[in-house]
Amino acid sequence: MTEEEFYGPALTGMKWAEQTILNIAGAYEWERGQAENGRTILYQTSRIKTPESMRNKLKSRKLETDAHSALTQVHDAVGVRIVCAFSDDVYKVADWLKTRPEFRVVMTKDYFAHPKPNGYRSYHMIVLLPTPQGEELSAEIQIRTIATDFWATLEHQLKYKRQVAHEELIRSELKRCADEIASVDLSMQTIRDMIQGEDKNQE
Ligand code: GTP
Ligand code: MG
Repeated sequence: MTEEEFYGPALTGMKWAEQTILNIAGAYEWERGQAENGRTILYQTSRIKTPESMRNKLKSRKLETDAHSALTQVHDAVGVRIVCAFSDDVYKVADWLKTRPEFRVVMTKDYFAHPKPNGYRSYHMIVLLPTPQGEELSAEIQIRTIATDFWATLEHQLKYKRQVAHEELIRSELKRCADEIASVDLSMQTIRDMIQGEDKNQE
């Protein structure tokens, strides 16, 4: 089933919402990133949730597997991921997004402050955007460091494998890596602060 077949006329608004969020985050980089000593947002990715993945999610929650349900019962049919270099940048970008007039932040989940048991770390936001078509659409924005994005990409592959040899070992190794990454992210942030502190002294 194609996106058009599944989402129907709503797809236009969804694509608009996806692009709007990408543009807004791009504006952060343009307005602030340069001034903050180098790039703040390294890259962004985005997607419209595939009909297959959306139907599986709805099914697993025992909901109707139609477009209406996809747009009203779950909030990540439209998703944008913002990848930053440093931990502090994640919060700077999140705080700035919360002030934007183009959408309303209706929920946040801070998996840096509260990592999942598997070690997943990320900052999630659900936003509501009024579309030019006069509807209100929700979208999920995930903000991460590049190191946690690297980890999440690999860990995500586990979810799609039915049978994985040495699964226990893989999970515990992934958890170890997640914790090491958190520690490296902290050290990198501290080193950057020290370098920037020296910069300021020289001015
Ligand atoms: P779903 O996880 O999509 O069913 O939604 P939810 O309501 O539980 O929201 P949550 O904020 O937990 O997760 C939303 C999205 O975050 C997921 O679709 C993934 O993109 C990402 N995510 C959440 N948890 C994990 C995780 O443990 N590993 C990885 N790799 N990604 C995760
Ligand atoms: Mg989840």
